[in-house]
Amino acid sequence: MGTGGFMASMLLVPPLRMAVDPLLKAGEEKPFVPVADVNEITDEPKRFEFTLKINDAWVKNQATTYSAWVYKEGSEIVALSPICKHLGCTVNWNASPEHPNMFYCPCHGGLYTKDGINVPGTPPRAPLDLYEVKVEGGKLYLGPLIQRT
Ligand code: FES
Repeated sequence: MGTGGFMASMLLVPPLRMAVDPLLKAGEEKPFVPVADVNEITDEPKRFEFTLKINDAWVKNQATTYSAWVYKEGSEIVALSPICKHLGCTVNWNASPEHPNMFYCPCHGGLYTKDGINVPGTPPRAPLDLYEVKVEGGKLYLGPLIQRT
């Protein structure tokens, strides 16, 4: 694939991802999904996985696994998308010994502070997106993504 083909494929990836991921469609009315017991959540970010059944024009009732980095900030619960805002790799918490207590993207060395803010001078140009959260009956539910720019 030449440079033109590569660039065209990079333009297609985000729309395709949005088409198959209901929680990635910011601002739409979507049901919340149970993700964790609230008592599992601490002030240290922890990655929780959850499964959604996808129904759209291409797939019917296909289970797809997603994840979020979740932690408590005082009485609030914060749930961050793990998708790096540079080129879409998955970020990890506390994964770089040179940059403790930060989200680190292994693909190109992207860094984010605990609240998901991109560190200037590293490749990402926007903060990690946030999930809407709600707590009911001791369970954490995640809703649509709030895109941050
Ligand atoms: S994809 Fe994360 S830094 Fe490039």
